[in-house]
Amino acid sequence: EKSLKVALLGCGTVGAQVARILIEDGGALAARSGASLELTGIAVRNLEAKRDVQLDAKLFTLDAEALIDSADVVIELLGGMEPAGAYIERALARGASVITGNKALIAARGAALNAVAASTGAQLRYEAAVAGAIPILRPIADSLAGDHINKVMGIVNGTTNFILDAMDSTGAAFDDVLAEAQALGYAEADPTADVGGLDAAAKAAILASLAFHTTVSSDQVHTEGITEVSAADVTAAAAAGYVIKLLAIAEKLEAGISVRVYPSLIKRDHPLASVRGAFNAVFVEAENAGDLMFYGAGAGGNPTASAVMGDVVAVARQLSAGAPLPHGSADSAAQLIDFSAI
Ligand code: HSE
Repeated sequence: EKSLKVALLGCGTVGAQVARILIEDGGALAARSGASLELTGIAVRNLEAKRDVQLDAKLFTLDAEALIDSADVVIELLGGMEPAGAYIERALARGASVITGNKALIAARGAALNAVAASTGAQLRYEAAVAGAIPILRPIADSLAGDHINKVMGIVNGTTNFILDAMDSTGAAFDDVLAEAQALGYAEADPTADVGGLDAAAKAAILASLAFHTTVSSDQVHTEGITEVSAADVTAAAAAGYVIKLLAIAEKLEAGISVRVYPSLIKRDHPLASVRGAFNAVFVEAENAGDLMFYGAGAGGNPTASAVMGDVVAVARQLSAGAPLPHGSADSAAQLIDFSAI
């Protein structure tokens, strides 16, 4: 059985759970991957920070680059554009496969990073970047690859759905609910990305790029957040039989592709109205498949870690089936010896 060296970058809400699963669930992951996954280290910005999971102090390092340079698989969960972008590029350039949950980075630089991956034969996967635990990118990119998608629409930000839902059901004030969403680990480190709609816009750009086989970046998404939604708006909507939800919509129109994020009035009996708390839902309209709906936990440590781990196993399966490993890794040297012996 192959052994793959796995480097983790970041140990926040999601990273800590990914580390836990890699350590606790090693046997099942190896059986499903055909390779054992060895967590070689966790690169963090602050060695002293409190973690959600108790982990061996020896795993932690401040030297992300050294960790990346000895890894077969790199899991990036730092978030933000830099240094995450440089780290991912470094890993892919040396042929290490990368799993990331970084929607802002993928929405801005996904095409360029995919090109680096293609040049070395490395894999780049980011299921966790959109709608937390919900499997949505692989269904769009793989399962529906033989169909034509006309529209993708849904609730793709857990924090804002949590806030709007609490304002609707308890009449709570915006700021108090935001603090609760942060404490529960739904919000981004900088929650203005959530409430300003930019997090949803990045996800909409990724969904549109995959659904329509093109490159859409966040700055091409018309974006309006929920900061202007008041308690009075929520009450007025409720009185008229509506609920306010932050929707992301990507559709193919005759004039081209339209991608937008904005707070919308939804009828109480519409399926999207029943998406409560930090849950997400995504509708896909495809020519032959018809209408599909995906629903589940859109944010939080364990749900998002589940999506990350699905990608880790997918990458490990490819590597154990013979996809190229980075230059200089122990396994690729072993492969070369095998080949010359044949
Ligand atoms: N801050 C994001 C959200 C996390 O609230 O949906 C999941 O991407």
